[in-house]
Amino acid sequence: MANEQFDAPKRVIFGLSMKLITMIIAMIMVVEVLIYLPSVANFRISWMDDRVHVAGVAARVIETVPDTMDLTPDMIGKLLSSAEAEALVIRTEGQSQLIERPDMPMPVAAYAADTRERAPLDLIAGALEILFFGSNRTMRVIGVPMDSQDVVVEVLVNEALLRQELIAYSRNIFWLSLLVASFTSFAIFLFLNGLLIRPITRLTRNMVAFQQDPDDARKIIVPSERRDEVGIAERELAAMESNLFTMLKQKQHLADLGLAVAKINHDLRNTLGSAQLLSDQVANLDDPHVQRLAPRLVNTLDRAIKFCQSVLDYGRHKSVAPKFEQVDLRALLDESASEAAIRVHPEIEWLNQVEDDVIISVDPDQIARVFTNLFKNAREALETHSLKNGDHPSILANLIVDQAQVCLTIADNGPGLSPRAKDNLFRAFEGSGRAGGTGLGLAIAKELVEAHGGALKYIPEESGTKFEICLPR
Ligand SMILES: Nc1ncnc2c1ncn2[C@@H]1O[C@H](COP(=O)(O)OP(=O)(O)O)[C@@H](O)[C@H]1O
Ligand SMILES: [Mg+2]
Repeated sequence: MANEQFDAPKRVIFGLSMKLITMIIAMIMVVEVLIYLPSVANFRISWMDDRVHVAGVAARVIETVPDTMDLTPDMIGKLLSSAEAEALVIRTEGQSQLIERPDMPMPVAAYAADTRERAPLDLIAGALEILFFGSNRTMRVIGVPMDSQDVVVEVLVNEALLRQELIAYSRNIFWLSLLVASFTSFAIFLFLNGLLIRPITRLTRNMVAFQQDPDDARKIIVPSERRDEVGIAERELAAMESNLFTMLKQKQHLADLGLAVAKINHDLRNTLGSAQLLSDQVANLDDPHVQRLAPRLVNTLDRAIKFCQSVLDYGRHKSVAPKFEQVDLRALLDESASEAAIRVHPEIEWLNQVEDDVIISVDPDQIARVFTNLFKNAREALETHSLKNGDHPSILANLIVDQAQVCLTIADNGPGLSPRAKDNLFRAFEGSGRAGGTGLGLAIAKELVEAHGGALKYIPEESGTKFEICLPR
Protein backbone atom coordinates (compact mmCIF):
# COMPACT_ATOMS: atom_id res chain seq x y z
CA MET A 1 0.00 0.00 0.00
CA ALA A 2 2.12 2.86 -1.26
CA ASN A 3 1.32 6.25 0.12
CA GLU A 4 0.77 8.69 -2.71
CA GLN A 5 0.37 11.82 -0.68
CA PHE A 6 4.08 11.84 0.17
CA ASP A 7 6.80 12.61 -2.37
CA ALA A 8 9.14 9.85 -3.28
CA PRO A 9 12.20 10.09 -1.00
CA LYS A 10 14.90 12.25 -2.53
CA ARG A 11 18.42 10.88 -2.86
CA VAL A 12 20.80 12.21 -0.26
CA ILE A 13 23.42 14.24 -2.14
CA PHE A 14 25.41 16.04 0.54
CA GLY A 15 24.78 13.57 3.33
CA LEU A 16 25.78 13.56 6.95
CA SER A 17 29.15 11.85 6.32
CA MET A 18 30.26 14.41 3.75
CA LYS A 19 29.13 17.27 5.98
CA LEU A 20 31.00 15.77 8.91
CA ILE A 21 34.29 15.26 7.03
CA THR A 22 34.20 18.74 5.54
CA MET A 23 33.52 20.27 8.90
CA ILE A 24 36.27 18.36 10.69
CA ILE A 25 38.88 19.27 8.06
CA ALA A 26 37.83 22.91 8.11
CA MET A 27 38.01 23.04 11.91
CA ILE A 28 41.45 21.43 12.00
CA MET A 29 42.75 23.82 9.36
CA VAL A 30 41.52 26.79 11.39
CA VAL A 31 43.28 25.42 14.45
CA GLU A 32 46.46 24.84 12.43
CA VAL A 33 46.47 28.41 11.20
CA LEU A 34 46.09 29.65 14.76
CA ILE A 35 49.11 27.57 15.74
CA TYR A 36 51.07 28.44 12.59
CA LEU A 37 51.04 32.24 13.04
CA PRO A 38 52.95 32.36 16.35
CA SER A 39 55.31 29.61 15.24
CA VAL A 40 56.32 31.39 12.05
CA ALA A 41 56.83 34.59 14.05
CA ASN A 42 58.99 32.65 16.45
CA PHE A 43 60.99 31.19 13.58
CA ARG A 44 61.83 34.67 12.25
CA ILE A 45 62.84 36.11 15.59
CA SER A 46 65.07 33.11 16.36
CA TRP A 47 66.70 33.46 12.98
CA MET A 48 67.47 37.11 13.70
CA ASP A 49 68.69 36.25 17.23
CA ASP A 50 71.13 33.81 15.67
CA ARG A 51 72.55 36.57 13.45
CA VAL A 52 72.91 38.86 16.46
CA HIS A 53 74.58 36.09 18.44
CA VAL A 54 77.13 35.35 15.73
CA ALA A 55 77.79 39.09 15.40
CA GLY A 56 78.41 39.22 19.14
CA VAL A 57 80.98 36.44 18.83
CA ALA A 58 82.62 38.40 16.01
CA ALA A 59 82.70 41.48 18.21
CA ARG A 60 84.58 39.56 20.87
CA VAL A 61 87.07 38.25 18.35
CA ILE A 62 87.68 41.77 17.12
CA GLU A 63 88.25 43.02 20.67
CA THR A 64 91.30 40.75 20.85
CA VAL A 65 92.81 42.41 17.82
CA PRO A 66 94.73 45.55 18.93
CA ASP A 67 94.11 47.53 15.78
CA THR A 68 91.26 46.90 13.43
CA MET A 69 93.46 47.91 10.60
CA ASP A 70 95.26 44.62 11.21
CA LEU A 71 92.18 42.62 10.17
CA THR A 72 92.91 40.95 6.91
CA PRO A 73 90.22 40.87 4.20
CA ASP A 74 90.28 37.10 4.62
CA MET A 75 89.34 37.36 8.30
CA ILE A 76 86.64 39.92 7.62
CA GLY A 77 85.22 37.64 4.95
CA LYS A 78 85.09 34.73 7.40
CA LEU A 79 83.50 36.83 10.13
CA LEU A 80 80.83 38.18 7.84
CA SER A 81 79.96 34.91 6.22
CA SER A 82 79.64 33.17 9.59
CA ALA A 83 76.80 35.60 10.28
CA GLU A 84 75.63 35.46 6.65
CA ALA A 85 75.92 39.25 6.85
CA GLU A 86 76.90 41.85 4.28
CA ALA A 87 78.28 44.17 6.96
CA LEU A 88 78.37 44.53 10.71
CA VAL A 89 78.23 47.54 13.02
CA ILE A 90 79.40 47.04 16.59
CA ARG A 91 78.55 49.82 19.04
CA THR A 92 80.12 50.05 22.48
CA GLU A 93 79.76 53.12 24.75
CA GLY A 94 80.03 55.96 22.28
CA GLN A 95 82.21 54.00 19.89
CA SER A 96 81.01 52.30 16.80
CA GLN A 97 82.95 50.06 14.54
CA LEU A 98 82.01 49.14 10.98
CA ILE A 99 83.06 45.85 9.49
CA GLU A 100 82.50 45.61 5.78
CA ARG A 101 83.98 43.79 2.84
CA PRO A 102 86.68 45.99 1.36
CA ASP A 103 85.92 44.82 -2.17
CA MET A 104 82.22 45.69 -2.06
CA PRO A 105 80.35 48.96 -1.60
CA MET A 106 78.65 49.44 1.73
CA PRO A 107 75.04 48.22 1.35
CA VAL A 108 72.17 50.54 2.27
CA ALA A 109 69.61 49.00 4.63
CA ALA A 110 65.99 49.38 3.45
CA TYR A 111 64.60 49.02 6.95
CA ALA A 112 65.53 48.05 10.48
CA ALA A 113 64.29 45.15 12.58
CA ASP A 114 64.99 45.53 16.28
CA THR A 115 65.13 42.20 18.14
CA ARG A 116 64.78 44.00 21.47
CA GLU A 117 61.15 44.73 20.69
CA ARG A 118 59.08 41.57 20.97
CA ALA A 119 55.38 42.46 20.93
CA PRO A 120 53.69 39.22 19.73
CA LEU A 121 51.44 40.85 17.13
CA ASP A 122 54.34 42.84 15.69
CA LEU A 123 56.40 39.67 15.45
CA ILE A 124 53.60 37.94 13.52
CA ALA A 125 53.16 40.95 11.25
CA GLY A 126 56.94 41.07 10.62
CA ALA A 127 57.03 37.42 9.63
CA LEU A 128 54.03 37.72 7.29
CA GLU A 129 55.45 40.87 5.75
CA ILE A 130 58.68 39.14 4.75
CA LEU A 131 56.81 36.06 3.61
CA PHE A 132 54.44 37.91 1.31
CA PHE A 133 56.27 41.10 0.33
CA GLY A 134 59.95 40.30 0.95
CA SER A 135 62.35 40.64 -1.99
CA ASN A 136 66.05 41.31 -2.16
CA ARG A 137 66.19 44.24 0.23
CA THR A 138 68.84 44.59 2.87
CA MET A 139 67.55 44.58 6.40
CA ARG A 140 69.32 45.94 9.45
CA VAL A 141 68.93 43.50 12.33
CA ILE A 142 69.62 45.29 15.61
CA GLY A 143 70.14 43.44 18.86
CA VAL A 144 72.09 42.87 22.05
CA PRO A 145 74.20 39.71 21.90
CA MET A 146 74.02 37.29 24.81
CA ASP A 147 76.47 37.89 27.75
CA SER A 148 77.37 41.38 26.57
CA GLN A 149 74.95 43.95 27.91
CA ASP A 150 76.92 46.99 26.83
CA VAL A 151 77.32 46.03 23.19
CA VAL A 152 74.70 46.62 20.52
CA VAL A 153 75.27 45.02 17.14
CA GLU A 154 73.70 45.75 13.82
CA VAL A 155 73.79 43.07 11.18
CA LEU A 156 73.08 44.04 7.62
CA VAL A 157 71.67 41.02 5.90
CA ASN A 158 69.71 40.26 2.75
CA GLU A 159 66.09 39.50 3.66
CA ALA A 160 65.86 36.95 0.83
CA LEU A 161 67.87 34.53 3.01
CA LEU A 162 65.29 34.74 5.77
CA ARG A 163 62.43 34.59 3.30
CA GLN A 164 63.67 31.36 1.74
CA GLU A 165 63.92 29.71 5.12
CA LEU A 166 60.51 30.97 6.14
CA ILE A 167 59.00 29.56 2.95
CA ALA A 168 60.63 26.19 3.51
CA TYR A 169 59.46 26.17 7.10
CA SER A 170 55.90 27.12 6.14
CA ARG A 171 55.80 24.48 3.47
CA ASN A 172 56.82 21.82 5.97
CA ILE A 173 54.22 23.00 8.42
CA PHE A 174 51.57 22.98 5.71
CA TRP A 175 52.22 19.38 4.73
CA LEU A 176 52.44 18.31 8.31
CA SER A 177 49.15 20.03 9.10
CA LEU A 178 47.47 18.40 6.16
CA LEU A 179 48.73 15.05 7.32
CA VAL A 180 47.50 15.65 10.87
CA ALA A 181 44.16 16.98 9.65
CA SER A 182 43.61 14.02 7.37
CA PHE A 183 44.55 11.53 10.06
CA THR A 184 42.43 13.22 12.70
CA SER A 185 39.40 13.75 10.50
CA PHE A 186 39.60 10.19 9.29
CA ALA A 187 39.79 8.88 12.84
CA ILE A 188 36.96 11.12 14.07
CA PHE A 189 34.94 10.21 11.02
CA LEU A 190 35.38 6.47 11.60
CA PHE A 191 34.34 6.93 15.18
CA LEU A 192 31.27 9.08 14.52
CA ASN A 193 30.31 7.07 11.48
CA GLY A 194 30.04 3.91 13.51
CA LEU A 195 28.47 5.66 16.45
CA LEU A 196 25.95 7.94 14.74
CA ILE A 197 25.83 8.16 11.01
CA ARG A 198 25.43 4.49 10.15
CA PRO A 199 22.63 3.97 12.68
CA ILE A 200 20.89 7.17 11.56
CA THR A 201 21.17 6.16 7.93
CA ARG A 202 19.73 2.78 8.86
CA LEU A 203 16.83 4.48 10.64
CA THR A 204 16.03 6.79 7.74
CA ARG A 205 16.32 4.03 5.16
CA ASN A 206 14.01 1.87 7.22
CA MET A 207 11.46 4.66 7.60
CA VAL A 208 11.43 5.21 3.87
CA ALA A 209 11.14 1.50 3.12
CA PHE A 210 8.39 0.95 5.68
CA GLN A 211 6.44 3.99 4.57
CA GLN A 212 6.49 2.68 1.01
CA ASP A 213 5.14 -0.70 2.03
CA PRO A 214 3.69 -0.73 5.55
CA ASP A 215 1.87 -4.01 4.83
CA ASP A 216 5.13 -5.93 4.81
CA ALA A 217 6.10 -7.02 8.33
CA ARG A 218 9.68 -7.68 7.20
CA LYS A 219 10.12 -3.91 6.81
CA ILE A 220 9.73 -3.38 10.56
CA ILE A 221 13.13 -2.38 11.94
CA VAL A 222 14.97 -4.85 14.17
CA PRO A 223 16.31 -2.73 17.02
CA SER A 224 19.90 -3.19 18.16
CA GLU A 225 20.97 -3.70 21.75
CA ARG A 226 22.26 -0.16 22.12
CA ARG A 227 21.29 1.63 25.29
CA ASP A 228 21.85 5.22 24.13
CA GLU A 229 19.52 7.64 22.31
CA VAL A 230 19.98 5.82 19.01
CA GLY A 231 18.89 2.60 20.68
CA ILE A 232 15.81 4.32 22.07
CA ALA A 233 14.98 5.72 18.64
CA GLU A 234 15.30 2.27 17.10
CA ARG A 235 13.12 0.61 19.70
CA GLU A 236 10.47 3.33 19.53
CA LEU A 237 10.45 3.16 15.76
CA ALA A 238 10.08 -0.62 15.89
CA ALA A 239 7.16 -0.30 18.31
CA MET A 240 5.55 2.40 16.19
CA GLU A 241 5.93 0.39 13.01
CA SER A 242 4.50 -2.78 14.47
CA ASN A 243 1.57 -0.83 15.93
CA LEU A 244 0.95 0.72 12.56
CA PHE A 245 1.21 -2.65 10.91
CA THR A 246 -1.37 -4.13 13.30
CA MET A 247 -3.66 -1.17 12.95
CA LEU A 248 -3.56 -1.32 9.18
CA LYS A 249 -4.39 -5.02 9.22
CA GLN A 250 -7.21 -4.38 11.67
CA LYS A 251 -8.57 -1.60 9.56
CA GLN A 252 -8.49 -3.81 6.50
CA HIS A 253 -10.36 -6.51 8.34
CA LEU A 254 -12.93 -4.00 9.56
CA ALA A 255 -13.36 -2.65 6.07
CA ASP A 256 -13.89 -6.17 4.73
CA LEU A 257 -16.29 -6.90 7.54
CA GLY A 258 -18.20 -3.68 6.89
CA LEU A 259 -18.55 -4.66 3.25
CA ALA A 260 -19.85 -8.09 4.22
CA VAL A 261 -22.34 -6.55 6.67
CA ALA A 262 -23.54 -4.15 4.02
CA LYS A 263 -24.12 -7.05 1.62
CA ILE A 264 -25.97 -9.12 4.21
CA ASN A 265 -28.01 -6.11 5.17
CA HIS A 266 -28.96 -5.36 1.63
CA ASP A 267 -30.20 -8.89 1.02
CA LEU A 268 -31.90 -8.95 4.39
CA ARG A 269 -33.74 -5.74 3.67
CA ASN A 270 -35.05 -7.11 0.39
CA THR A 271 -36.14 -10.33 2.04
CA LEU A 272 -37.79 -8.41 4.84
CA GLY A 273 -39.50 -6.23 2.25
CA SER A 274 -41.10 -9.31 0.69
CA ALA A 275 -42.07 -10.54 4.14
CA GLN A 276 -43.67 -7.19 4.83
CA LEU A 277 -45.80 -7.45 1.67
CA LEU A 278 -46.92 -10.90 2.77
CA SER A 279 -47.68 -9.72 6.29
CA ASP A 280 -49.77 -6.86 4.90
CA GLN A 281 -51.83 -9.40 2.99
CA VAL A 282 -52.09 -11.63 6.05
CA ALA A 283 -53.32 -8.65 8.06
CA ASN A 284 -56.27 -8.40 5.70
CA LEU A 285 -57.50 -11.90 6.56
CA ASP A 286 -60.63 -12.07 8.69
CA ASP A 287 -59.39 -14.61 11.20
CA PRO A 288 -59.48 -12.95 14.69
CA HIS A 289 -56.21 -14.71 15.70
CA VAL A 290 -54.50 -13.30 12.69
CA GLN A 291 -56.05 -9.89 13.33
CA ARG A 292 -54.57 -9.90 16.82
CA LEU A 293 -51.05 -11.02 15.83
CA ALA A 294 -50.69 -9.31 12.47
CA PRO A 295 -50.02 -5.73 13.74
CA ARG A 296 -47.17 -7.00 15.94
CA LEU A 297 -45.72 -8.90 13.04
CA VAL A 298 -45.94 -5.82 10.82
CA ASN A 299 -44.33 -3.69 13.53
CA THR A 300 -41.47 -6.11 14.05
CA LEU A 301 -40.77 -6.29 10.35
CA ASP A 302 -40.96 -2.50 10.12
CA ARG A 303 -38.36 -2.14 12.83
CA ALA A 304 -36.08 -4.72 11.26
CA ILE A 305 -36.23 -2.91 7.95
CA LYS A 306 -35.52 0.45 9.56
CA PHE A 307 -32.60 -1.07 11.39
CA CYS A 308 -31.13 -2.44 8.17
CA GLN A 309 -31.69 0.92 6.51
CA SER A 310 -29.88 2.89 9.16
CA VAL A 311 -26.95 0.47 9.26
CA LEU A 312 -26.66 0.81 5.50
CA ASP A 313 -26.87 4.60 5.79
CA TYR A 314 -24.16 4.62 8.42
CA GLY A 315 -21.85 2.68 6.14
CA ARG A 316 -22.60 4.91 3.21
CA HIS A 317 -22.62 8.40 4.65
CA LYS A 318 -19.57 8.07 6.75
CA SER A 319 -16.83 9.49 4.64
CA VAL A 320 -18.42 12.24 2.57
CA ALA A 321 -16.69 15.57 3.09
CA PRO A 322 -19.10 18.45 3.74
CA LYS A 323 -19.96 20.82 0.88
CA PHE A 324 -20.21 24.21 2.51
CA GLU A 325 -23.01 26.62 1.60
CA GLN A 326 -24.46 29.75 3.17
CA VAL A 327 -27.73 28.76 4.81
CA ASP A 328 -30.30 30.40 7.02
CA LEU A 329 -30.13 28.60 10.35
CA ARG A 330 -33.73 29.24 11.41
CA ALA A 331 -35.09 27.88 8.15
CA LEU A 332 -32.84 24.86 8.32
CA LEU A 333 -34.07 24.12 11.85
CA ASP A 334 -37.70 24.41 10.78
CA GLU A 335 -37.11 22.12 7.82
CA SER A 336 -35.48 19.49 10.02
CA ALA A 337 -38.30 19.82 12.54
CA SER A 338 -40.79 19.02 9.77
CA GLU A 339 -38.66 16.09 8.71
CA ALA A 340 -38.64 14.77 12.29
CA ALA A 341 -42.41 15.30 12.50
CA ILE A 342 -42.36 17.71 15.40
CA ARG A 343 -43.30 20.92 13.62
CA VAL A 344 -46.98 20.08 13.42
CA HIS A 345 -47.31 17.56 16.23
CA PRO A 346 -50.58 17.21 18.17
CA GLU A 347 -48.88 17.25 21.55
CA ILE A 348 -45.31 18.50 21.22
CA GLU A 349 -44.56 22.18 21.01
CA TRP A 350 -41.73 23.25 18.71
CA LEU A 351 -40.04 26.45 19.90
CA ASN A 352 -37.54 27.86 17.43
CA GLN A 353 -35.91 30.80 19.19
CA VAL A 354 -33.23 31.38 16.59
CA GLU A 355 -33.72 34.72 14.92
CA ASP A 356 -34.17 35.25 11.22
CA ASP A 357 -31.13 36.01 9.08
CA VAL A 358 -28.58 34.04 11.06
CA ILE A 359 -26.50 32.80 8.16
CA ILE A 360 -24.00 29.99 8.72
CA SER A 361 -21.68 28.20 6.35
CA VAL A 362 -22.35 24.44 6.52
CA ASP A 363 -23.33 21.48 4.40
CA PRO A 364 -27.14 21.87 4.65
CA ASP A 365 -27.89 18.17 4.05
CA GLN A 366 -25.47 16.98 6.70
CA ILE A 367 -26.41 19.53 9.34
CA ALA A 368 -30.12 18.95 8.67
CA ARG A 369 -29.43 15.30 9.32
CA VAL A 370 -27.83 16.19 12.65
CA PHE A 371 -30.84 18.28 13.66
CA THR A 372 -33.29 15.62 12.49
CA ASN A 373 -31.51 12.94 14.51
CA LEU A 374 -31.65 15.08 17.64
CA PHE A 375 -35.29 16.05 17.08
CA LYS A 376 -36.35 12.46 16.44
CA ASN A 377 -34.70 11.33 19.65
CA ALA A 378 -36.44 14.09 21.55
CA ARG A 379 -39.79 13.25 19.97
CA GLU A 380 -39.38 9.55 20.73
CA ALA A 381 -38.51 10.38 24.33
CA LEU A 382 -41.41 12.81 24.72
CA GLU A 383 -43.97 10.50 23.12
CA THR A 384 -43.31 7.67 25.55
CA HIS A 385 -43.20 9.93 28.56
CA SER A 386 -45.98 11.68 30.36
CA LEU A 387 -45.11 14.89 32.12
CA LYS A 388 -46.00 14.98 35.80
CA ASN A 389 -46.99 18.49 36.70
CA GLY A 390 -49.08 19.19 33.68
CA ASP A 391 -46.21 20.75 31.70
CA HIS A 392 -46.53 20.88 27.98
CA PRO A 393 -43.97 18.68 26.16
CA SER A 394 -41.72 20.92 24.12
CA ILE A 395 -38.53 21.03 22.11
CA LEU A 396 -36.55 24.23 22.20
CA ALA A 397 -33.78 25.48 19.93
CA ASN A 398 -31.66 28.41 21.10
CA LEU A 399 -28.57 30.15 19.78
CA ILE A 400 -25.53 31.82 21.30
CA VAL A 401 -23.23 33.59 18.85
CA ASP A 402 -19.76 34.80 19.73
CA GLN A 403 -16.76 35.88 17.71
CA ALA A 404 -15.30 32.46 17.07
CA GLN A 405 -18.33 30.19 16.89
CA VAL A 406 -22.07 29.75 16.88
CA CYS A 407 -23.44 27.44 19.56
CA LEU A 408 -26.91 26.04 19.17
CA THR A 409 -28.65 24.25 22.02
CA ILE A 410 -31.48 21.79 21.45
CA ALA A 411 -33.33 20.92 24.63
CA ASP A 412 -36.47 19.00 25.51
CA ASN A 413 -38.33 18.62 28.79
CA GLY A 414 -38.57 14.82 28.47
CA PRO A 415 -37.31 12.09 30.81
CA GLY A 416 -33.61 12.76 30.27
CA LEU A 417 -30.99 10.25 29.13
CA SER A 418 -31.19 6.74 30.55
CA PRO A 419 -28.04 5.58 32.40
CA ARG A 420 -27.28 3.15 29.61
CA ALA A 421 -27.57 5.88 26.99
CA LYS A 422 -25.39 8.19 29.08
CA ASP A 423 -22.64 5.59 29.48
CA ASN A 424 -22.47 4.86 25.76
CA LEU A 425 -23.22 8.31 24.47
CA PHE A 426 -22.12 8.88 20.84
CA ARG A 427 -20.96 5.26 20.45
CA ALA A 428 -22.31 3.60 17.31
CA PHE A 429 -24.42 0.46 17.92
CA GLU A 430 -23.96 0.75 21.67
CA GLY A 431 -25.72 3.89 22.78
CA SER A 432 -29.29 2.86 22.12
CA GLY A 433 -31.58 2.84 25.12
CA ARG A 434 -34.83 1.94 23.40
CA ALA A 435 -36.36 -1.05 21.65
CA GLY A 436 -35.65 -0.99 17.94
CA GLY A 437 -32.96 1.66 18.28
CA THR A 438 -29.58 1.26 16.60
CA GLY A 439 -27.61 3.69 18.69
CA LEU A 440 -26.44 5.30 15.46
CA GLY A 441 -28.30 8.62 15.55
CA LEU A 442 -26.06 10.46 17.99
CA ALA A 443 -22.87 8.78 16.71
CA ILE A 444 -23.61 9.97 13.18
CA ALA A 445 -24.58 13.44 14.39
CA LYS A 446 -21.31 13.81 16.28
CA GLU A 447 -19.27 12.64 13.32
CA LEU A 448 -20.99 15.08 10.96
CA VAL A 449 -20.53 18.02 13.31
CA GLU A 450 -16.87 17.17 13.80
CA ALA A 451 -16.37 16.97 10.04
CA HIS A 452 -17.49 20.62 10.05
CA GLY A 453 -14.76 21.45 12.55
CA GLY A 454 -17.33 21.76 15.32
CA ALA A 455 -18.34 19.83 18.43
CA LEU A 456 -21.50 18.10 19.66
CA LYS A 457 -21.84 17.90 23.42
CA TYR A 458 -24.36 16.64 25.91
CA ILE A 459 -25.14 19.31 28.50
CA PRO A 460 -26.37 17.72 31.74
CA GLU A 461 -29.40 19.53 33.18
CA GLU A 462 -31.62 18.89 36.18
CA SER A 463 -34.47 17.69 34.01
CA GLY A 464 -34.90 16.96 30.34
CA THR A 465 -32.12 16.54 27.79
CA LYS A 466 -29.92 19.21 26.26
CA PHE A 467 -27.37 18.95 23.47
CA GLU A 468 -25.11 21.72 22.25
CA ILE A 469 -23.76 22.01 18.71
CA CYS A 470 -20.91 24.47 18.27
CA LEU A 471 -19.72 25.32 14.78
CA PRO A 472 -16.83 27.59 13.84
CA ARG A 473 -17.89 30.79 12.09
N1 LIG B 1 -33.70 13.69 23.91
C1 LIG B 1 -33.55 12.52 24.50
N2 LIG B 1 -34.21 12.19 25.62
C2 LIG B 1 -34.03 11.00 26.21
N3 LIG B 1 -33.18 10.04 25.77
C3 LIG B 1 -32.48 10.31 24.65
C4 LIG B 1 -32.60 11.55 23.97
N4 LIG B 1 -31.75 11.51 22.92
C5 LIG B 1 -31.16 10.31 22.96
N5 LIG B 1 -31.57 9.58 23.99
C6 LIG B 1 -31.15 8.23 24.35
O1 LIG B 1 -29.94 7.98 23.70
C7 LIG B 1 -30.03 6.77 22.94
C8 LIG B 1 -29.18 6.86 21.72
O2 LIG B 1 -29.76 7.65 20.72
P1 LIG B 1 -29.37 7.44 19.24
O3 LIG B 1 -27.91 7.49 19.13
O4 LIG B 1 -30.15 8.40 18.42
O5 LIG B 1 -29.81 5.96 18.94
P2 LIG B 1 -31.27 5.39 18.70
O6 LIG B 1 -32.16 6.56 18.58
O7 LIG B 1 -31.14 4.59 17.49
O8 LIG B 1 -31.51 4.58 19.93
C9 LIG B 1 -31.49 6.62 22.68
O9 LIG B 1 -31.81 5.28 22.51
C10 LIG B 1 -32.13 7.19 23.90
O10 LIG B 1 -32.22 6.22 24.91
MG1 LIG C 1 -32.13 8.21 17.40
